[in-house]
Amino acid sequence: MAVKWTPDSWRTQEARHIPAYRDAAALAEAEATLKNYPPLVFAGEARSLEKELARVAAGEAFLLQGGDCAESFAEFHPNNIRDTFRVLLMMAVVMTFASKRPVVKLGRMAGQFAKPRSAPTEKQGDVELPSYFGDNINGIEFDPAVREPDPSRMVRAYSQSAATLNLLRAFASGGYASLQQVQQWMHDFMGRSPWADRYAETADRISEAMDFMRACGISTDTVPQLQGTSFYTSHEALLLPFEEAMTRRDSLTGDWYDTSAHFLWIGDRTRFEGSAHVEFLRGIGNPIGIKCGPSLSTDALLNMLDTLNPMRIPGRMTLISRFGHDKVEAGLAPLVRAVKKEGHPVIWSCDPMHGNVVKSESGFKTRPFERIMAELRGFFAVHRAEGTHAGGIHIEMTGQNVTECTGGAIAITDEALGDRYHTHCDPRLNAAQSLEVAFEVAEMLNAEVSASARKAA
Ligand code: PEP
Ligand code: CO
Repeated sequence: MAVKWTPDSWRTQEARHIPAYRDAAALAEAEATLKNYPPLVFAGEARSLEKELARVAAGEAFLLQGGDCAESFAEFHPNNIRDTFRVLLMMAVVMTFASKRPVVKLGRMAGQFAKPRSAPTEKQGDVELPSYFGDNINGIEFDPAVREPDPSRMVRAYSQSAATLNLLRAFASGGYASLQQVQQWMHDFMGRSPWADRYAETADRISEAMDFMRACGISTDTVPQLQGTSFYTSHEALLLPFEEAMTRRDSLTGDWYDTSAHFLWIGDRTRFEGSAHVEFLRGIGNPIGIKCGPSLSTDALLNMLDTLNPMRIPGRMTLISRFGHDKVEAGLAPLVRAVKKEGHPVIWSCDPMHGNVVKSESGFKTRPFERIMAELRGFFAVHRAEGTHAGGIHIEMTGQNVTECTGGAIAITDEALGDRYHTHCDPRLNAAQSLEVAFEVAEMLNAEVSASARKAA
């Protein structure tokens, strides 16, 4: 580990899952272009998020992180952005209403392009080409020219992120996210889900409470919090040449921030000892996440926490566990215990997606809804047993009516997967399945909040 950190000190460490660009001049040009472009987020915003996350770490709030597995150039459309955003709003409302705790909303959006892949190449018949690594690196089409890593895609991804973020900010503060709109966020196609009725009931109760408060003189005019919401962005900090180019010194504090998103995380495949990704993330002031899977030992985790958060700043570290429905209880408990014993202030969040991928009989990569729920239940059970806060969830979802994960109340079958399977990478929960997760998690969260209230009394 280099002692002195600089935005490029990761280059002295082992960097996995970063493409080998053939055209060095084109890479240098893309990096130089990005270095001159405006930051996408401001360091002060990343600090605000860290403050909100500190409340999660303290057990006073909950984190909801969600969005695409991989954003794509093809799916770039205002309706897609709006629909993912409004499902996240609905989920947050459901969870806040049940738990009476604030929910921090963090999109896997406006920059979630690069993907680590299990194999560097893909073979179709006799033809072998580089795998698809995400739209900021190469294209998904199985064609030699398209699969060649192209640095100029980073600049296009920047532009798409900027436009996405602009719309998200407009929605968050321009009236769309006002609690007065709580009835309007539901999609027509969700009406088939029994959870749509539950949502309508919750929305009615919120509207009634708003009417009552208005009669008492409290309205969106007098209380700005009711008019908008805070919404943050995140992605896996995988493509380090891009992240380095977006890293700037904050003019207020002199600290370095990666201005490509408010929150960045290290993937399960790039958190090994001596990793360039760990080296890069240790030097930035943004709050950061680490994916924690079955191969992570307690010693390796504690070392990483000492490296990434030596000052033990609450809200800086989010540990995102992703064990799989049958491994979560045995795998997560020792990590939770060790971190608690060491006194590191962390947020524990559950990614019930990446440990639960199966190949369906019809040949699609899918995730059975029951396994996703089983991992979430296991996660809450571990925290209940260890006396720690089940702090959040991290899900791959979309606001569209896709058929990518089987099961849920509208019981998507194996045979139906082909109907609307659109993901560029992993299967996502659709809007109705996401809402269903929110109601189930709200119940677990409510049980945790009631239990801690009983203990305090
Ligand atoms: C992801 O979040 O898209 C991902 C690749 O997850 P993990 O690093 O946990 O496998
Ligand atoms: Co994924």
